[in-house]
Amino acid sequence: MSKIAYVNGTYLPQGQASVNIEDRGYQFGDGIYEVVHLYRGRFVDEARHLDRLERSLGEIHLPMPMPRAALRMVLMEVARRNRVQDGLLYMQVTRGVARRDHAFPRVPVPVSLVVTIRHIPPYPKDVERWTISAITHPDLRWARRDIKSVNLLPNVLARQAAREAGAAEAILYDEATGMVTEGAATSFWIVDAAGVLRTRHLDQVILPGCTRGALIAEMEAEGIPHSLAPFSLEELRGAREAFLTSATSFVKPILRIDGQDVGDGKVGPVTRRLFDLFSRHVHAGLGNSQ
Ligand SMILES: Cc1ncc(COP(=O)(O)O)c(C=O)c1O
Repeated sequence: MSKIAYVNGTYLPQGQASVNIEDRGYQFGDGIYEVVHLYRGRFVDEARHLDRLERSLGEIHLPMPMPRAALRMVLMEVARRNRVQDGLLYMQVTRGVARRDHAFPRVPVPVSLVVTIRHIPPYPKDVERWTISAITHPDLRWARRDIKSVNLLPNVLARQAAREAGAAEAILYDEATGMVTEGAATSFWIVDAAGVLRTRHLDQVILPGCTRGALIAEMEAEGIPHSLAPFSLEELRGAREAFLTSATSFVKPILRIDGQDVGDGKVGPVTRRLFDLFSRHVHAGLGNSQ
């Protein structure tokens, strides 16, 4: 069965799907995207993802492509037509098709919306089978990383550097200050040398991860303490545990960074607990609430 994509009002086989070469997403990276995890037929943290989409679009002066209820129907329809129960849904909204000119089209054109989905295996039950290595890498991105822009060149280069080093993720840091920001496509967390669970606070320097937000809400409900104080590469080197979160990665332990063991090189108790907590969150279907 060929994959079905949604492109500007039409569902069609992915091989036949195309966008105009003057689409501003293609020409300028003038667009926003979202990735949502479909788990057993239900979108995980759907409201958080749609909120972030709307916010990112607003920051670049674009409207939602359609009312939220209609958009949700398109997303479900893409999953249904592809017969995907467990997968990753990708949606991209761009400023549409116009003669190439950096400034916005004088007469606004309809935004473009593309939605695709692909099957992935369901989240793992065993955290031990979900571990990775990472590298550290300078953060070369622009100043508005809170906007989920389709401009991903620095993220692409950092991920490629990780792959070439035999690792799965690049942990980004500010070269001027030595402070850690986040992963190339993930939120990043440590348990520091003093045992404090930490992830960087939100501002324009990192993307507000939906998985991060959902996990923090669950931690608060459970009374699990954490700190949002930024941390340095040096503190990272002394961390007892490290893990990342994202719609794709769930809660994923990092056992080695730049070839060195994190802590004792095993999945730590805090990571294990949060993996279980987030598993419960996903299974309870709480993802669709705020
Ligand atoms: C730079 C960056 N940070 C964090 C995340 C994690 O966000 P989420 O949990 O919403 O997938 C992503 C996901 O794509 C990302 O690209």
